[in-house]
Formats: sequence, C-alpha cells, structure tokens
Amino acid sequence: MRTNATVSWHDARIERDKLGAHCKQIMNVNGEKLKIFTYPAPVLRQKAKIITNINGDLKKLTDNMLFTMYSAPGIGLAANQVGSLDRVIVFDLKPDEKEMKKPCVLINPEIVEREGTTKSEEACLSVIDYSAEVKRSAKVLVRGIGIDEKPLEIEAEGLLAICLQHEIDHLNGILFIDHISSLKRAMYKKKLKKILNKE
Ligand code: NI
Repeated sequence: MRTNATVSWHDARIERDKLGAHCKQIMNVNGEKLKIFTYPAPVLRQKAKIITNINGDLKKLTDNMLFTMYSAPGIGLAANQVGSLDRVIVFDLKPDEKEMKKPCVLINPEIVEREGTTKSEEACLSVIDYSAEVKRSAKVLVRGIGIDEKPLEIEAEGLLAICLQHEIDHLNGILFIDHISSLKRAMYKKKLKKILNKE
C-alpha cells in the first residue's frame, strides 16, 4: 500500500505504537530491492499458499520485502507483489522519515473479526498512477504468526486496519481496484493502456 491514505498520521502513530511489543524498532533493514509486479501481472491474481515452515529462505524473503517496501516507499507489501506465493505480508506505518523503522512481518495472516465501515483513499505499489476511495471494515482483529514463530494477534483500527485488509486482500489475489465501481475500473484500465503504450 502506498502512503497517501487520508487517515491522519496521528491515528496511524497510535496504531503503530500499539505494535511495539510485536515489532522491534530498528534503524535500518538490510536486504535486496526486489522487482514489484504491477497490474495486470498474473501473480497478483493468484492465491498465496499457507506457510508451514519458517526457515532462512522466508526470513531472507521478508527482509528483502521490507527493504523493497521502504525503498518504494510504501507502508505495506504482500509476497505476491514481489512474485512469491508465500502467505506473508510486511508493513510499517512509518509516518516520518526521522522516526525509527518498526518493520512488522505477519505470516499466514487472517482476519477473524470485523467491525463497522470506513472509507479512505488507497493506492498500491502494484497499481501504477492511481488512487481511489475504498470502503473497508473500520476495525479488524487479525491473527497470524510473527517471524519469531510466535502467534500474533493484532487489534487494528484506522490506517493499520486499512493496510492489513489491503495486504491480506493481495494474498487472496484481490486488488483495491476490485473494490471500486466497474465504471471507475474501466476508466483506470483505459488510462493504464495509454500509459503502457507510451513506454
Ligand atoms: Ni497493494
């Protein structure tokens, strides 16, 4: 997910602080910049597979995903976006360049409860040159496994809730443009065609 969401950074900071116990603060993430696949790449439409073995390869993948996310920059990235079908997302609602990074990794994430609705402007690193208002659940309870192999439960609202829903959608082959009207989507496809023809 890109960083131009309309939810306030103040709320984002509160949500981010609540993750303190799960996600350690660090100065820098070391990794390799991966290629981000963009719509209409088929991998973005595939369903990611449950991870049964948290090994060195997965740690390397998530480090590289975090590095790629910070470089983009974005606030969330799902494995499909870098061409992997491992069921894992990374995120950090880092509101300010001066703040420490707080990279979070969530393996096999699942939304177990939802409450209310909210609308906000979303954009995605895999959907070039576009943003649109999307309706989401206002609060979500998400379960998954941390990179330390410990079970994680995150009660999220505000930007964190939106980010988690956006990234978990990716793991199910869903993009934010699937949540907008068919007319808007058709207009985006037309615009994208023009962009791609210019390249
Ligand atoms: Ni996205």
